[in-house]
Amino acid sequence: MDNFTFFNPTKLIFGKDTVEQLKAEVPRYGKKVLLVYGGGSIKRNGLYDQVLSLLKEVDIEVFELPGVEPNPRISTVKKGVEICRNEGIDFLLAVGGGSVIDCTKAIAAGAKYEGDTWDLMTRKAVAKEALPFGTVLTLAATGSEMNSGSVITNWETKEKYGWGSPVTFPQFSILDPVNTYTVPRDQTVYGIVDMMAHVLEHYFHLTESTELQDRMCEGLLLTVMEAAPKLLEDLESYEHRATILYSGTMALNGMLSMGYRGDWATHNIEHAVSAVYDIPHGGGLAILFPNWMKHNLKVKPERFKKLAVRVFGVNAEGKTDEEVGLEGIDQLRKFWNSIGAPSRLADYEIDDSQVEVMADKAMVYGEFGNFTKLNKEDVMAIYRASL
Ligand code: NZQ
Ligand code: ZN
Repeated sequence: MDNFTFFNPTKLIFGKDTVEQLKAEVPRYGKKVLLVYGGGSIKRNGLYDQVLSLLKEVDIEVFELPGVEPNPRISTVKKGVEICRNEGIDFLLAVGGGSVIDCTKAIAAGAKYEGDTWDLMTRKAVAKEALPFGTVLTLAATGSEMNSGSVITNWETKEKYGWGSPVTFPQFSILDPVNTYTVPRDQTVYGIVDMMAHVLEHYFHLTESTELQDRMCEGLLLTVMEAAPKLLEDLESYEHRATILYSGTMALNGMLSMGYRGDWATHNIEHAVSAVYDIPHGGGLAILFPNWMKHNLKVKPERFKKLAVRVFGVNAEGKTDEEVGLEGIDQLRKFWNSIGAPSRLADYEIDDSQVEVMADKAMVYGEFGNFTKLNKEDVMAIYRASL
């Protein structure tokens, strides 16, 4: 196990009717609040009205930034930064999924950064300060509600980058499983794939003696795989929504990743696809992850075997580690197919015409991945295997 420091300051507030706690949490940070939300799901399910009336009860002056896109864009971030500067905003409240939260993080940091906010995404500058913000999460997927990461797209230049800083953790996040009841089936599936992919990104590392971390990762995968089909049978099951919601947060809040460095190449490869084609992140991961695994099976076959045996119940008797690992990868693909996730780029009408363009975007900071380094040829091979 490697040395580590664990830091996570986000207050997690979980359960039925917890949105009421906005009345206690928000006034701590000031009077002027920018409410950030997406394309209207919170208006359709009543959460918008509920949040506004709670904030009114505690005399908060509310400004609004609606219309945050899935795969949030820097143009929208900049609109939010303008509002913060012009109105003297004290606090931001994100009500939505990962995209709304990521956009809010970028606004919070952009408002305190004198240069062009896009510098924070392109590593020209690191955010040293940010306005405080909180979240009311409506979709189980990214873990953004309890981490400091954010992913922003520049649609003009077709770039999509992950960034973050210790100042971009939410102050609090309110997670009521009921607020995820209206997430449509396809988005529910993308979220499930995304949280599983986060665990898999953790799992593929080269550090020895991570027995507890491995078991925690395996436990999360098993739990999600057990709950997912039941949830898809009954999208308004509190029990299964709660399991999936909690799993999504735990998959990427740092709890599973102490003492080693996960791989994270597949996320980079996926971001390059959604930068060009604007596809859902979880859909892209479902297509790409098994192909990243096949491409790198030989790096450390015993790692793939461990996953196959412990999570997918593969019988290892009389087989090589690689054979067992491959069966595990096939089982993962089968599971994702069984819940309706896409399996080929062709499912999004993506052909081979942009393979090199996407590979160049993925390579912008050079070779990447911690389990093994990928070069441009590797990335193109993974895209081609995914067509
Ligand atoms: O915009 P609205 O109308 O709210 O609709 C959204 C959107 O269309 C809808 N939705 C959300 N909650 C709903 C709902 N519809 C009905 N009922 C509800 N309760 O779902 C659609 C997708 O929302 P989005 O926020 O885009 O999904 P997700 O949470 O999967 O976020 C995806 C973004 O997060 C980034 C991805 O790259 C992508 O840009 N990621 C962020 C990470 C992080 N910050 O740590 C890590 C991830 O790996 C990921 O890269
Ligand atoms: Zn992800």
